[in-house]
Amino acid sequence: MVVNIERLFSTRAKILRASEIRELLKITQVPGMISFAGGLPNPDAFPVEVIHDCIEDIFKEDIKNALQYGTTEGLTQLRGVLAERMKKKHINCELHDILITSGAQQALFLVGLCFLDPGDTYLTNVPAYLGAVQAFGALEANCESIPMNDEGIDIDSLRRNLERLRRTGIYPKFLYTVPTFQNPSGETMSLSHRKELIEIASKYDFLIVEDDPYSDLIFEGKSLPAIKSFDTKGRVIYMSTFSKILAPGLRLGWIISPREILEKLILAKQATDLCTNVFSQYIAYKYVNGGYLDKQVEKISKMYKRKRDLMLKEIKNNFPKGVKWTIPKGGMFIWITLPQSINTSILFRKALNKKVAYVVGDAFFPEGGNYNSMRLNFSYSDDEVIKEGIRRLAEVIKEELKTTYKKEPFLAEGV
Ligand SMILES: Cc1ncc(COP(=O)(O)O)c(C=O)c1O
Repeated sequence: MVVNIERLFSTRAKILRASEIRELLKITQVPGMISFAGGLPNPDAFPVEVIHDCIEDIFKEDIKNALQYGTTEGLTQLRGVLAERMKKKHINCELHDILITSGAQQALFLVGLCFLDPGDTYLTNVPAYLGAVQAFGALEANCESIPMNDEGIDIDSLRRNLERLRRTGIYPKFLYTVPTFQNPSGETMSLSHRKELIEIASKYDFLIVEDDPYSDLIFEGKSLPAIKSFDTKGRVIYMSTFSKILAPGLRLGWIISPREILEKLILAKQATDLCTNVFSQYIAYKYVNGGYLDKQVEKISKMYKRKRDLMLKEIKNNFPKGVKWTIPKGGMFIWITLPQSINTSILFRKALNKKVAYVVGDAFFPEGGNYNSMRLNFSYSDDEVIKEGIRRLAEVIKEELKTTYKKEPFLAEGV
């Protein structure tokens, strides 16, 4: 009998679709393409030699343990040094409050698995990190989008939406947010909004999922305390990662949460992969314990600041009038808003023809919208490549403006 695989797939598998964006991004790997699309750290900044030394050390001292299964919670020594690091960020935690995960992406999925039934609702400020939307979407959850403003989230809109949802009997399980140097917008949530979110979460009884991969990559100004640092009632699940400050290939992230939540997350992780890559955990432990991480963070922050400044300068000098952009104070992304006559999905094909790529802004809006925006990454490319890429992009935008000039604003479906 010929197997009818469609009949056998679970409902969950059936709703998994290749993201159009990720498919398009494959094209960006062709030779000569300048890609501002991926969210990649700069490989020249990877501390290759120190990692080599850490590995040598592991071979001398810990190799048998490093090759063995580990506990689901993660390597005790690594959790210990992370707890100390987190305390410096005013997050009050002990090593028993920390679960090591296979990247922050797994942390997101585990949180979804523990809190979202099919049809459940979560909130997020938009534009939102695509990977979180994918993880929660795979669990058949509904997303309620809250617009962002220059304080990171439109609090009035959040309150209005919560009241509206309440009237229809919908109680969101959590609000997902990247409060510092957000992916994709580069924006940062204000101190007052961080505190206010805790009050609102308490009033409407939902959790806050705080995703914090970028806060160490700070270029100017003061770093703001994590939302988690104001959490006295156990409402915040905090997560971060080594991906942006050390190396994404290690696949190491961590979650800090109230213990009763952590226990469930540990069980969910056990069912998923038993434990995080132990060898990687030893590398990260040796690296942090050796005192290298702070110097590394300082080095990449300096490098990325220079790249941000360069990209902003090139944008300012080359992009036509009517284009707006964010000025991120840290992180890896700039958010561009083009004149309303331009649809960045249509522009994307033309940009690829000129061998330059970005991520279409619409992709970061789970409910659609913002057809005239795009995300640019400045951390990955070499300086000369940034100059040439922005020049090409400016050309494509200018040509598009000529053809769409005087036309009605483009109205995408659902806008
Ligand atoms: C906001 C955000 N959360 C989570 C992740 C996933 O990170 P990791 O490599 O640790 O899985 C990323 C990666 O780009 C991200 O930007």
